[in-house]
Amino acid sequence: HARLVIAVDGPAAAGKGTLAKLLAARLGLPHLDTGLLYRATAARLIDAGWPEDAAQAASRAAELAASLGTADLARTDLRTPPVDRGASAVAAMPAVRAALLDLQRSFAAHHGAVLDGRDIGTVIFPHAPVKLFVTASPAARARRRWAQLNPGADPTTDAARTAIAATEAALVARDAADAGRADAPLARAMDAVELDSSTLDIEAVLERALAIVAERA
Ligand code: C5P
Repeated sequence: HARLVIAVDGPAAAGKGTLAKLLAARLGLPHLDTGLLYRATAARLIDAGWPEDAAQAASRAAELAASLGTADLARTDLRTPPVDRGASAVAAMPAVRAALLDLQRSFAAHHGAVLDGRDIGTVIFPHAPVKLFVTASPAARARRRWAQLNPGADPTTDAARTAIAATEAALVARDAADAGRADAPLARAMDAVELDSSTLDIEAVLERALAIVAERA
């Protein structure tokens, strides 16, 4: 697969990252989780003290986005609720998206790549031959995200049910913000194939994705 680009988009916690990682391993392609770019930018802006003034916050965020290093992406604190919300906030800033554009395009330039995010098939690689849009019901996504964060825990206790409901509310709010922003909103590209992972396990999603790759690439 010389320079094959595969775009994997979809709402929060739909299983994009897991699918993208498995696809990349099976096809021998590099993988980029583009959400990490927005998460690392937000974490750096939180550390620096998030400016109250919106214009100042946007210009500071764009500087931080333009100077991300591998250590920033390897931080272990990028999947907390404040960083979830911060990532979605910096992702709505056009200057931040512009600062991250070249990095994402050049990542795939030599060997191709699998990239997962929100706007890979619509903005970053509008001509990608393979575009997948991974969805799942909010309830299924919330259960999965909670189980990831609480491995082995019983999801049927009252405390767990409350936590899962809060997780679902936060996911739905972040999707609404991501889909509602003006610049590169979360959207299915017209030529993307939708994969609903609510009722399929990851193996079944991967098999379908590989069949689409075989057809289109
Ligand atoms: O995919 P993940 O949940 O890690 O993404 C975190 C946030 O980064 C998303 O809620 C979204 O606002 C933003 N994002 C984006 N475009 C991408 C990837 C992520 O706007 N390609």
